[in-house]
This record gives sequence, C-alpha cells and structure tokens, in this order.
Amino acid sequence: MIVNISAVAYLISGVCFIMALRGLSSPISARRGNLFGIIGMLIAVITTLFNPGILSFELIIIGLLIGAIIGTTIARKIQMTAMPQLVAAFHSLVGLAAVLVAAAALYSPESYGIGNSGNIKIASLIEMAIGVAVGAITFTGSILAFTKLQGLVSGNPVVFFGQHWLNLILGVLIILISIYFVSTQDLLAFWILVALSLAIGILLILPIGGADMPVVVSMLNSYSGWAAAGIGFTLENTALIITGALVGSSGAILSYIMCKAMNRSFFSVILGGFGGESIYKDETGEKSVKPGSAEDAAFIMSNAGSVIIVPGYGLAVAQAQHVIKEMSDALKEAGVKVRYAIHPVAGRMPGHMNVLLAESSVDYDDVFELDEINSDFSNSDVAFVIGANDVTNPAAKNDPQSPIYGMPILDVEKSQTVLFVKRSLSPGYAGIDNSVFYRDNTMMLFGDAKEMVEKIVKSI
Ligand code: TAP
Repeated sequence: MIVNISAVAYLISGVCFIMALRGLSSPISARRGNLFGIIGMLIAVITTLFNPGILSFELIIIGLLIGAIIGTTIARKIQMTAMPQLVAAFHSLVGLAAVLVAAAALYSPESYGIGNSGNIKIASLIEMAIGVAVGAITFTGSILAFTKLQGLVSGNPVVFFGQHWLNLILGVLIILISIYFVSTQDLLAFWILVALSLAIGILLILPIGGADMPVVVSMLNSYSGWAAAGIGFTLENTALIITGALVGSSGAILSYIMCKAMNRSFFSVILGGFGGESIYKDETGEKSVKPGSAEDAAFIMSNAGSVIIVPGYGLAVAQAQHVIKEMSDALKEAGVKVRYAIHPVAGRMPGHMNVLLAESSVDYDDVFELDEINSDFSNSDVAFVIGANDVTNPAAKNDPQSPIYGMPILDVEKSQTVLFVKRSLSPGYAGIDNSVFYRDNTMMLFGDAKEMVEKIVKSI
C-alpha cells in the first residue's frame, strides 16, 4: 500500500516539476513556476522519508542540516554576477553524488535490492556503468568550468596536438571497460572506469574558450540531470528518474538554444577553441572616442523620439536595474518611446537580463528579444548601451578572424546616436575591442553604470 501511495506521490511531484519548467519559460509566470518546483520537491522529499526501508533518521537529519546550512549561507552571500560559477559548482556535486551512489551500490548491493556481491542484476550493472561515467564526467567538467568562470584558471581555450585523438581513445576505452565491468563485476574495472571518466571530463572542457562558456554551463546542467536519472535507476526511485530526465532534457534544449543564439554548432562547441584569447590592445591615441557627460545624455534622450536600452553584464555588476527603470519612466513621461533589447547571451547566464529587469518591475511589454527588435535600431534615435559590450560588437559580422565571428549581435551602431555607459575602453568577456566605441555617432559615458544613470535621471 505504501509503495502505491509513494508511486502516486512521486508522480504528483513529477507533474509539479513539469509545471515548474512550464512556468519558468516566461518571466511573468516564473514565480509560479518556482513555487511548483518547491512543492514538487517537498512532496518528493517527504515521500522518500516515509520509505519503509529507512532504518535510522539520524544520518538523514544531520545531512539535511549540513546541506541546509551550506545552501542557505551560499544563497545569501552569492553575488548575482557569480551565479554561473555557483551553478557549475552545484552541478559538480550532482556528478559526485552519482559516483558515490554507484560505488555504494556496488559494494553493498543487498542494501539496494539489486542482488548480492558478485551477483548483481545485469540491468543494474549497466545503469551503474552509465551513471558513474556520466557522473564522473560531470564532476570534473563542472569543477573546471567553475575555475574558468571564477577566473582561477585562464578562460583561454587549451588546445594541444592530438587532443581529439586522445579524447576518442579515452571514449573507446570507457566503452570497453564498461562492457568488461558489466560482464565481470570487477571492482578494479569500476574504479578504472571512474578514473577514465574523470579524465575525459577535464579534457572535454579544457579546449572550450570563454565565449562558449554559456553553452558549457547549460551542457553540464544537462549532464547533471542524466547523472541524477542514473542514480534514480540505481536507487529505484521514480521521482529521481523523472527529475533527472527533466533536467537532462531541458538542459539539452537550453544548450541547443544557446548554440543557436551564438550561431555555433554543438560539435564545434565540444571541439572547442572559441573566444577567450584576448586580442584587445589598449588604444594609445590612434583611434579617438567622444566622451560625454550625464547632462549630454539626458539632453539627447529627452529630445529623442525613441530610445532602445541595451543592458549587459555591467548592469548586473553595478546593480543598476532599479535606476534604469527610473530613467525609462522619466523618459516615458517626457513622451519618449522606450524599449529594452535583450541579447540571448547578455550577462553571464541564460535569462540574466530578464531576471534583473523583472526585479525592477520593468513592463514585460517593453522588453524585446534580439530577433524582435534588431531591425528597429535603424529607425531609433538613441541606442543606450549600459554595461554591454560583446553583444553589440560588429566584429561578429565583419571580421572573419574575430573569435566571436558568426555570433548574432544587436545592431546598435545603426541608431542615430549610440550612448555607451562603461567605466573604460576595456573589452568585454570575449576580450576583443569594439569598433562602435570609435564611431562618429557614438558618445562614451565613462563611469559606473548605476552612478551614471542616477546623474542622468537627475538631469532629465
Ligand atoms: P561583456 O561583453 O562582458 O561586457 C560587459 C561590459 O560591462 C564590460 O565591457 C565592462 O566594461 C562593463 N562594466 C563592468 N562593470 C561595470 C560597471 N560597474 N559599470 C559600467 N560598466 C561596467 O557583456 P555582454 O555584452 O553582456 O556580453 C556577455 C558576454 O559574456 C558574451 O561574450 C557572452 O558570450 C559571455 N557569457 C555569457 C553567458 C550567458 S549564458 N549569458 C555566460 C558566460 C559568458 P568596463 O570594464 O570598461 O566598465
């Protein structure tokens, strides 16, 4: 009876997770989506705690407490701009959990009801082999992605002779050793499988350059989902299988969307080498820019018919989302048409700009995706670029040598005037100079995004 009730409860939590993903697909319903996710997780956890197989609650409570304390502390402290590396770090834990659960199941199959030592069910061994390989790849891959995003190691692609051959050989070895492990249940083969998978996790992420990091984070998200689904099979836990499959497939879809946004094929991302290498050289007077003041910007925008605001990573760093809303309200009051243009990889995580704008209650009707608004820059009086850089760089269109060549960008330079808010002429994430800074129709507003916009609001 308990089994039946728990199957139904797990099913309900699975439905909640699907509703959560549905809600998260739009900023308007995102809060509701989150709520569904919380309810689904609560049902799943409570149902698992009623499992008659649980002999003692002490360790579970200690684990819950440790996890809750660490999770709450990190969530309270983390800066919005450090979110991608935090997500990567969390993915690594899912991968590690998959490896540990598989090892526990191998050493104590009786506890998992999958047979006896040396006589484990074949299906369980196959699940174990796949789960442990995906888990180990996710673990080291995510740690390397974390260190790259955190700036602990260089974001440059690391490419060396014979790299693809080495990966291919390791891949074939992983398949062979998995087959050997499934047929012999040999403990050493299991650990060799773990070691090879840990190595390939590093080798797969090493050649990936800074500009491809968005895809990598969503790809690792997908891997972590499949690793969780693998644990679900080992533990015979339906909720974990459903959740893992949902995370795995939604992460894969997100990776596809990110690849499309950057005009990159999935395989060229995996094979690596895009962006990361800084080719920016400090301009020493050869090219000149036109610096302007907050008052100049206020005057130009108040007299404009339409303004398109292009937010980027710097907006998040400066936490300028509230003051930018004040600025657009003030301009609207003055009769100016104000819209926001969001590039799919602006900021440092998918939906980064949407989240920030939602936080400051910007009207969703004023927010447009790249495809919807790009053709309007040529009819717009002002493009107000705040803390964005790479997503406006025409090198992506004009310079085949550029590391971001081929990525769709927002055509800000087509506006009558471009106002660029940033602190210096430094490049953005991809490390390349932006020719828009030096155009005749561009005015550079040097300063912190929040402080600059505060001054503009005062002037308006
Ligand atoms: P970036 O090209 O990184 O440029 C951000 C700009 O903000 C910098 O040039 C910086 O110039 C300026 N800035 C930083 N702090 C500032 C502050 N306090 N006030 C004013 N300006 C400030 O940003 P983007 O245009 O949003 O492009 C995103 C880049 O990140 C792309 O290359 C993308 O591939 C990559 N990326 C994206 C993701 C996702 S999923 N969105 C994940 C990882 C990487 P100063 O230093 O001169 O101020």
